[in-house]
Amino acid sequence: MAQLDTALIKRATELRSQLQQASYEYYVLDAPTLPDSVYDRLYRELQDLETQHPELLTPDSPTQRVGAQPARQFTSVRHNIPLYSLENAFDLGEYHQWEARWQRLAEIDDAPAVTELKIDGNALALTYENGVLVRGATRGDGISGEEITQNVKTIRSIPLRLQLDSPPPVVEVRGEAFIPNDVFEQINAERDAVGDALFANPRNAAAGTLRQLDSKVVAARRLDFFAYTLIVPGQEEMRGDSQWAALEQLQHLGFKVNPNRALCGTSDAVAGFYNRWETERETLPYLTDGVVVKLNDFSLQQRLGFTQKFPRWAIALKYPAEEVPTTLTGLTPQVGRTGAVTPVAELTPVQLAGTTVSRATLHNADRLAELDIHIGDTVIVRKAGEIIPEVVRVLTELRPADAQPGRLPDRCPECNEPLVKPEGEAVTRCINISCPAILRGALSHWASRDAMDIQGLGEKWVQQWVEQGMVQSVADLYSLTVEQLLPLERMGEQLAQKLVAAIQASKAKPWDRVLYGLGIRHVGSVNAKLLTAPFYTVERLMAADVDAIAAVYGIGPEIAQSVHDWFSVGANQTLVDRLKAAGLQLAGPPPAPADRPLPLAGKTFVLTGTLPHLTRPEAKAKIEAAGGKVTSSVSKKTSYVVVGAEAGSKLEKAEKLGLTLLSEAELLVLLDTLTAASAPE
Ligand code: IVH
Repeated sequence: MAQLDTALIKRATELRSQLQQASYEYYVLDAPTLPDSVYDRLYRELQDLETQHPELLTPDSPTQRVGAQPARQFTSVRHNIPLYSLENAFDLGEYHQWEARWQRLAEIDDAPAVTELKIDGNALALTYENGVLVRGATRGDGISGEEITQNVKTIRSIPLRLQLDSPPPVVEVRGEAFIPNDVFEQINAERDAVGDALFANPRNAAAGTLRQLDSKVVAARRLDFFAYTLIVPGQEEMRGDSQWAALEQLQHLGFKVNPNRALCGTSDAVAGFYNRWETERETLPYLTDGVVVKLNDFSLQQRLGFTQKFPRWAIALKYPAEEVPTTLTGLTPQVGRTGAVTPVAELTPVQLAGTTVSRATLHNADRLAELDIHIGDTVIVRKAGEIIPEVVRVLTELRPADAQPGRLPDRCPECNEPLVKPEGEAVTRCINISCPAILRGALSHWASRDAMDIQGLGEKWVQQWVEQGMVQSVADLYSLTVEQLLPLERMGEQLAQKLVAAIQASKAKPWDRVLYGLGIRHVGSVNAKLLTAPFYTVERLMAADVDAIAAVYGIGPEIAQSVHDWFSVGANQTLVDRLKAAGLQLAGPPPAPADRPLPLAGKTFVLTGTLPHLTRPEAKAKIEAAGGKVTSSVSKKTSYVVVGAEAGSKLEKAEKLGLTLLSEAELLVLLDTLTAASAPE
């Protein structure tokens, strides 16, 4: 028996290392040696072994790349060493200024620097304990991020075990996770087909993917990873004495390190690298938005240290946003959730910053007029960072003779009601609250992650339900039945049940999310949280005037007005009533006493004589709970004197000073009315 166990363990170990090597050759070296069919066979053998003998399973087994259970939520983790961000230089001039600064600080003229491509992705911190990947976390705010280990494991170019015979206890590797351009286009094409919102760029797609709770979805999105930082606490010598050596060490450990890097002895060499990649980057299968320059020697890095936000020894030398010419083939007015109508340019597809662009925003009617844009015009489009492409210029000299000016229509393309453009405002709006576009937007917003988080209720269904008149307001969602959904195209029994259950489950979402979900202008999730603390029931919020709303810390007059206006509309009041009737949470817990404005704050009381019901400590406690202060001697400053039986000299003094006297009953009434006035119900 023991014999067999040893043989099994040996076989499992052998399979794991064969599969790990094959994966490394395929995903990191891009030089596969093992045919896919052999890989699959070995993988299945290991999987079978592990199923039959779960004790053979190890966390670094290739079968563990995709978790079986989706995560419920991510937990926050603190980074032992913060993940700093980089200062930007937008041209070589700014780069030379930065150079002069460190040279002055370090009192040296020159020092070698490593140039790396700046990958436009998301930074990750990976922790290996005794050589095994135990944790993967996002950068977050640099101090703490989210633990996404299961998702990180799906990235094939990230080793689950370091290629080291005797690994140090802890190794931390940092680098950039990204989605290659072709995968990005494929993801968006699929999303487009089912009517889901498109990702603006690969970086957003990567960020959204890393935050997916289901690691199967992450695995399907094929993220990749370049390592650039190696930290070995207590065994610093392992990473060598320079960034260049550390990158080589990372490569030995089994990571993919971007081969497009250079060790530059001079500032001219850095400029050469930067200039060369400005054009060559277009041939890369991923996006890069600049070059990161890092002083090579760790001893010099240490001498220079960090500012509040950045290392003084590194800088991101960015490329200007790319611009390309194309032609405007049409103009589509797009009606958003708030009724705002955005002119969208339809373009002859062009390659721009690694993706195909066929649409770009023209912002609003004023911008249209300013550009004097005509259908058929040659236009320049630009994509800067996370912003969706925009039309920046029109080459009027190339305009065809018969070109017609591009304008927004007078009527809503969705509901045909007249559009309005208030004097002095740039935005043209549809103000018909039954406009299907506004309704679709309202429903999608209601279902979105930070609002009611209704899983599965994507734009595809929203569109269909609105089109078929099944849903005319968010309240209608709560009376939808499986039977009603079944006849719909591409709907099945299971899916219908899932959707109805997800909608019903959203009834448990707290009041602040409901308020956010209503889509009131200026009320984002943060403002919704601020508002629902003091206005802990919808009735309180509806009854409040603008001043009372604006009195909430963090809420300005514009937001307060918008909230007040929204609740003054009859149709919105009906919606609130219907949501209440459907069982949604339109109230939360009352704030803790300390958070309420205390009605007796600043008032001082003196108790004298014996009260009919309350003992002294009881009376004192009640007064103090309402913010009042109880003192022992009467003075001009005393606000109230509470008088019981056999009151003595304090009563005399109070009468002399003309102070307000209260009986126990009057005190109780005062407490009652004041408390109710500041916190009715
Ligand atoms: S080094 C202290 N190297 O750029 C060192 N960052 O704008 C900080 N990035 O947060 C990071 N490629 O997400 C470094 N080769 C590279 C990089 C890189 C992309 C990202 C990283 C960082 C951001 C700063």
